[in-house]
Amino acid sequence: MSSYRYPRIRSSEITPEEVWKSRRQWMIAAGAATLGAATQAWPVAARASTAATAALQARPSAQYMLMEAKTSEKDATSYNNFYEFGMDKDDPKRYADKLRTSPWTLTIEGEVVSPMTFDLDGLRKLAPLEERIYRLRCVEGWSMVIPWIGYSLSALLKQVQPTGNAKYVEFISAMQPENMPGLRGSSIDWPYTEGLRLDEAMHPLTLLTLGMYGKVLPNQNGAPVRLTVPWKYGFKSAKSIVKIRFVEKQPVSSWMKSIPSEYGFYSNVNPEVSHPRWSQATERRIGEDSLFAPKRKTLMFNGYGQEVASLYQGMDLRKNF
Ligand code: MTE
Repeated sequence: MSSYRYPRIRSSEITPEEVWKSRRQWMIAAGAATLGAATQAWPVAARASTAATAALQARPSAQYMLMEAKTSEKDATSYNNFYEFGMDKDDPKRYADKLRTSPWTLTIEGEVVSPMTFDLDGLRKLAPLEERIYRLRCVEGWSMVIPWIGYSLSALLKQVQPTGNAKYVEFISAMQPENMPGLRGSSIDWPYTEGLRLDEAMHPLTLLTLGMYGKVLPNQNGAPVRLTVPWKYGFKSAKSIVKIRFVEKQPVSSWMKSIPSEYGFYSNVNPEVSHPRWSQATERRIGEDSLFAPKRKTLMFNGYGQEVASLYQGMDLRKNF
């Protein structure tokens, strides 16, 4: 497997080279076990800045609000998983300024009557932008509360008129090899691909996300357009998406391909079903990181059970993890 060759600011300039080399080699050796490889590194200060993002107007959603403290914008934009830019939590912030976000197109194809391609302006104007505060729970055991901006994905998907054969929806992230150092190492099957069942994709909670904290999405959070699926583990929320494909058969996501024993298709937040490497019973809210801060109990469906539990009625959620 080839090793990472980072552009310009190398980790070796920050960490003593021996430490850096051994850590990097260990992570490469860990291979498929990338998710969570660097969780010990938190909290980390951002070591390079990404260009400030422009304001994005949105009306606060009356329905999707949370009476919980929001994660600070600084934490939410400097502690990220975006493996196209590297495996460390601060790699996305450090390297994602290279991501080319304009021009951008999102193509919707597959089992649809009218395939369509949208540019960013078209996406922003398609439906009124709302600010929704959602919990995001990562399978690694941490969570955040983020004010996202966007609209229900269903508004976009309805445009193309899915055919009767459309049972699932696949989401495909951008691949820009010249700008994404992470594509050269690690065993994730690129491009990053995720999937939802049709009714999950059409559920009003599923957010086509164009911004956060009153601004357009920063690159490290998946600019210019991503998904936010708040009742599922964070990895289902694909970033920087370029293609949405309606399909008949259940898609195989990048994580399912890499480590099928650890990642299933559904990936609903479920405190009763442990991941082989992490219990899912509790979580650490980013920002509440003092040694004495108690961990929070993880809620079934990340607290969105009232809205989504009916989608899984009669299903064995241990088998369908
Ligand atoms: N999308 C792409 N394309 N590449 C990724 O590595 N990481 C996922 C998800 N979407 C990822 C991705 C994971 S593991 C998580 S937890 C969330 O993005 C993190 O989103 P955030 O950085 O905005 O908190």
